[in-house]
Parts: sequence; C-alpha cells; structure tokens
Amino acid sequence: MIILAFPDYLSQAQRLANRLNKPLIEVTLHNFPDGESFIRLPPSLPEHLIICLSLNQPNDKLIELLLCATTARELGAKRLTLVTPYLSYMRQDTANQPGEAISQRIIGKLLADLFDDVVTVDPHLHRISSLTQAIPIKNAVSLTAASEISGFLKQQFSHALLLGPDSESDQWVGAIAGNIGFDYAIAAKHRLGDQQVEMTLPDKDFSNKPVVIIDDVASTGRTLAKAAELLQAAGCKNIYALVTHALFCGDAYDHILKSGIKTIWSTDSIDHPSSCIRLDTLLANAIRAIS
Ligand code: R5P
Repeated sequence: MIILAFPDYLSQAQRLANRLNKPLIEVTLHNFPDGESFIRLPPSLPEHLIICLSLNQPNDKLIELLLCATTARELGAKRLTLVTPYLSYMRQDTANQPGEAISQRIIGKLLADLFDDVVTVDPHLHRISSLTQAIPIKNAVSLTAASEISGFLKQQFSHALLLGPDSESDQWVGAIAGNIGFDYAIAAKHRLGDQQVEMTLPDKDFSNKPVVIIDDVASTGRTLAKAAELLQAAGCKNIYALVTHALFCGDAYDHILKSGIKTIWSTDSIDHPSSCIRLDTLLANAIRAIS
C-alpha cells in the first residue's frame, strides 16, 4: 500500500502516512494556462493505493481524480481507496424544482465508479442517513470528527455553551455537547441567497458564558457572522467558532473575524491557518478497519 497525495493535501497526507507507517508519493499535477490539468503517477504502483485530497474547489479536482484513478488502474492498481476528508456536492440531494441536477447522486456515482472505497469526514448529509445511499459502494465510510472536536473544546474551556446555527447542525453540535457535557442550543436559519442569511436565536441566556458556534462548513462565512451579530446583541462577550471544514471562500475569513468572533478553529480537512484539529488518527483507524 502507498499513500498518493495531491499537492494541496500534502502535509495532512504525510501525517496520515506516518500514522500508518506507509510510504507517501506526491501526485505530479500541472495546470495549463487554458485550464486543463496534467497528472503524472509513478509508472510502477502497488496493488493498493490510498489517494488523498479534499474536494474543496471541486470542479478541477474531480477531473484530476478521474485522470488519476483511471491512470492508476491502467498502471495495474487493483484497489483504489479515496480519502477525501471534505467531500463536496453532498448538499443538493433533491430537485427542489423540476430540471435541477441532483448533484449528490451524480457525483456519488462518479466516485463509486472510480474507487473501491471512499472515506470522508462529516459530509453534509441531510435527508439521507448513510453515505452508501449517495456513493453506492460497500465501503463508503462517513466518519465524524465529533470526538476530535470534543477533545479540543475540553482543552480550551471548562464550560461553554455550544450553538448550532441551523437545524442541520444539530447532528454535529448535539454529539459534541453530549461527549463533553456542555449545554447546547440550535438557532433557526433561513438562507436568502449565497451571501445573505436570516437567523433567530433560541430563547436562552447568552450573556454569562463563552459561546462557541459550531458548524460543518464555513463557506462565505455569512452564517457564522450572522450568529455572532445576534449573540453580541444578546449580551454575549466571548464568542468563538469552530467548523469541521474551513472552505472560507472569498472574503469569508476576514468577514468572520470582523463580526466579533474572537477565534475560529477548524480541522485540517482543508489546510488553513485555523486548522489546528488533526484528523490523521481518525482516518488511519478507518483505513486499518477496511484494509
Ligand atoms: C448549511 O447548511 C451548512 O451547514 C452551513 O451552515 C453553510 O454551508 C455555511 O455557509 P456560509 O458560510 O456560506 O454561510
């Protein structure tokens, strides 16, 4: 077995390789001026490859994965395991209006066709209960970073109130709060557009303890910023945020920090200055379990 790492996931893949005590090779990737991608793999490959990258900025990366997996098969690899701690395209799981592409199903099938195993962390599954419903292969493994996040929060705070910004976050926030015995509350969110959200806080006293807003992803950062704005108005003085996947598109990071949030933390599913919670042990255990 070897670990094959895409360049923007190299440091995390190296930690995973160290944890598994396996060699790592970096995929040679070049982006041509016209937007095409070039991939080169070592011509001699073992039977089992663990291919690692997160699918933030997914459109180019999906083509690169297609090139990589197809080439690996042509070079003789028999088993391809995709480790993609951030798995995109999971949110659109239904056609809200006739004619809409159900991207979860389409991208899920593409990955199922390319890989024998897919391992990811806290995918945004809303109306389905199992990742195999989206990626129809036996080893479609959905891990949760709840225990890593819980351990991190326990080191930072003796007590804090955890706030989920919308009903979908209940699954993550409830699990984390339960692990460490912290209180939690869930806000109600209504998204009006990419950059615009409305939110109502639950009826609770937010003025007397630190509040940590917890979500699976921060994309534009508008969800976290709106929650922080409402918490400040409710008298909260110590506001923090923690997300599993630090997408931080465009001005998101600045926008969040300007909103009154003191510090934002994330896992290393995506490399970012905030990503201090490491996932290599979680991923290594999952790979051992399916290998
Ligand atoms: C929504 O359903 C997700 O759980 C996040 O709350 C959302 O994607 C965050 O997006 P943004 O940072 O753009 O507000």
